[in-house]
This record gives sequence, C-alpha cells and structure tokens, in this order.
Amino acid sequence: MNMNDIIFKKRQGNVLTRKEIEFFISGYTKGEIPDYQASALLMAIFFQKMTDEETFYFTDAMQHSGDVIDLSSIKGIKVDKHSTGGVGDKTTLIVAPIVAACGVPIAKMSGRGLGFTGGTIDKLESIPGFQTSLEPEDFVKQVNEIGISVIGQTAHIAAADKKLYALRDVTATVDNISLITSSIMSKKLAAGSDAIVLDVKCGKGAFMESIESAEHLGQLMVSIGKAAGKKTIAVITDMNQPLGNAVGNSLEVQEAIDTLKGNGPKDIEELCLRLASYMLLAGEKVATSDQGYEMAVKALNSGEAYKKFIEFVKRQGGEVSEGKKEIQLPKASYERKLIAKEEGYLFEVEAKQIGMASQHTGAGRETKEDSIDLSAGILVHKKIGDYVKKGDCLATVYGNVEEKIEKALFEAIKAFSFCKEPIEKLPLIKKIIE
Ligand code: URA
Repeated sequence: MNMNDIIFKKRQGNVLTRKEIEFFISGYTKGEIPDYQASALLMAIFFQKMTDEETFYFTDAMQHSGDVIDLSSIKGIKVDKHSTGGVGDKTTLIVAPIVAACGVPIAKMSGRGLGFTGGTIDKLESIPGFQTSLEPEDFVKQVNEIGISVIGQTAHIAAADKKLYALRDVTATVDNISLITSSIMSKKLAAGSDAIVLDVKCGKGAFMESIESAEHLGQLMVSIGKAAGKKTIAVITDMNQPLGNAVGNSLEVQEAIDTLKGNGPKDIEELCLRLASYMLLAGEKVATSDQGYEMAVKALNSGEAYKKFIEFVKRQGGEVSEGKKEIQLPKASYERKLIAKEEGYLFEVEAKQIGMASQHTGAGRETKEDSIDLSAGILVHKKIGDYVKKGDCLATVYGNVEEKIEKALFEAIKAFSFCKEPIEKLPLIKKIIE
C-alpha cells in the first residue's frame, strides 16, 4: 500500500477500505507518513467526503492509535458528556456534580481551550490549588469513593487525533463532518465510559452553523457511538450567543457556582438540567428523560449538587474555605464597561465575536503553547431579544493589562447588533437525537 495511491483514490471520490484508512492513521501516528501527504489526503476528504462506514473505520483507527482507558474497575454505568465547542460553555462544571449527586459515576477527561472557545481544564485550574492531572489509580479510586473526577486528557489518548487536529487547524480542514465526528468520538470511545451524551452546538459560534449540518453531525456521532457498543445521545443546542453571561475562566467558574447554588442565569440552568436528564437516562438511573429532569432538579434545589461540587474540588486539591464552603477565585485588576451607543432590540450577540474579544483580554490562547490569564474575560449583560437603551451596559470586560482590555472592548462591540422591531428569544434546545 502506498500513500500516493490512497490520496489519488480519495481525490477521485472513491471509497477507502478499512485497511487503507488503518495504514494512513497508523503510519501518520508513527511519523512514517509526512505532513504534506496527510494534508493532501485531508483536503481530498474535505472535498470528496467520507461515507459513514469510512468514518467509522477512521474513528476506530484513531481510537486505537493511543491508550484505550479501562474503567471497568469503577462500579456502575459511567456516563461521559462532550460539547462540540462553544463560548461560555461551563456546563460540565454544573452537570457533572448534578449527575454524580444522583448516583451516576463521572470519570471524565476534558481538554483545554484554543482560539475563541474555552476548555473545562483551564476553568478548573482557575480554582487555587486544583489538580487536573491525577495518576490513573487515584482517578479510579476517587470516582469509586466520591462518584466524580475530572482530569486533563492524557497525551496518549487518540494519539493520531492530536497530530491530525493540529494539521487540520492549519490546512483549513477542520469543518468536515466526518473529520469532526472521528476526532471527537475517537477520544470519547478511548476514554472508556459506557455511555456518552453529546452537546452539539449549532449557530454562529459553532462549527455547525445550520440546524441541518448540526443534525447531520449529531446523527453521525450517535451512530458511531452505537456501532462501538455505547449508548449515545446527542442534544442539539443553540450557540448563536454565549451561553450564560460569563466568558473567561474564573468568571465562568463563578457562574457555575452561582448556578449550582440556584442563582445562575436561567438559560444555563435549563441546559444543564436537560443534559443531566439525558445522562441519568443513559446511566439507567431513570426510565425516561422527564424522570431524569425531575431527579436533576431535586439534586440542584436540595443543595446536594453544590455539596458534590465542593467535595470534588476539595478532593482534587482545590482551596475551599472551611466554614462557608466558599472558593476564592482570582480577580482581575481592571474592569471596563461596554456602553450601548444606540437603542433597540438586540438582534445579535455573536458568540464567536465575544469569544474572540475574551481571547484578547488574555483569557484564551492563540496557539497551544500560550499561557492564559485565568481572571480575565467578559460578562455579557444582555441577550438576543432584550431591549437596550442608549447608555445601558452591554458587557463588562475584565483583565490585567489595559491595552488588552481596550482591544477586547473594540472587538466586543462588534458582537452586538440592533433592530427596531421586537424579535423572538432563541430556543436553547433544538433537537434530541437518541
Ligand atoms: N473538537 C474536536 O475535538 N475535534 C474537532 O474536530 C472539532 C471539535
């Protein structure tokens, strides 16, 4: 077999065999296939697409290109959750303790942020003392003892994806449904949980802008998960505007804490309860998602979910004050308000634009190697459909470097557009694919 023939075959729009896909993934992971040939194949896949069967083989080959975690020593049905990436998405910090408080074990590996999207591991690291890397035995022990652990994904999970994702990022081949599916599902399948709930983001701040493409992605991921023997559910959710109000690491952790205490923004609370309901269903704690929703509401309202969060944070080394069980998060030195210069109904609060503005404050990275400012970010005070008067505060920008704040303000204002007529609020949950 040789790479030239494989590239030619895909370029002509033909279907690759399992053996050809395995040859590519294994050769590229080992460094035997150079980046220029891998790039050519990615571009051919981008234009000619892959069938569902090819996508399954691609996923399977990537899943087995690194470690496959065995979580069988953890009791119960382990349920993982994954978001395809968005702005202000702190749902894991809320959903995981709700679900764990209901008795479904969470043994989760999460990633870091890149570009305009954030990552759970960066958010958790804004809690002073919090350890995101644990030895495998400690990870398993913690889940068996307290029902929850979230750690950073090791370098050895889906090794091929690590290399390929970086290559896709610089060859304009990220937004292909088969490549996104195999990238996400190879990591989820290798991470060892028994069931997976996928939050597929749809809108201007997501890879998938249209509902049709988000549905296609959701359906493909669900069928790949099922073919691998895992119960998989996809929830298509809106990502036209940021989720909740906070964008930026410690700001998002604070919002997650507020939500767990019952004082968070209603959109994020509702999404978390719905995601939790499907995780409880996948974990076989309940027979229907409505029962799951009821159980999740009880865990939230009783304070059990917040208690579980505090237990989880303390167990992973995070500092929690003894008496009131509070967490002191880092605070930025400067804040500036973004004031509305016009009046009207908010027609857009573009998630991607807010994500980029937040990146300018120092909260996000441009390359994987960049360090980030955990206290920086943006609080957005208005949502699509709100009526805004001249002089109202649209957002507050936080940071530690004044020039960065200036740049962020300049970018953030572009996210807001106004119209004269009232417009409907966007539904947050668009579709469930089971
Ligand atoms: N997230 C991933 O992990 N991979 C993709 O290709 C897109 C989003």
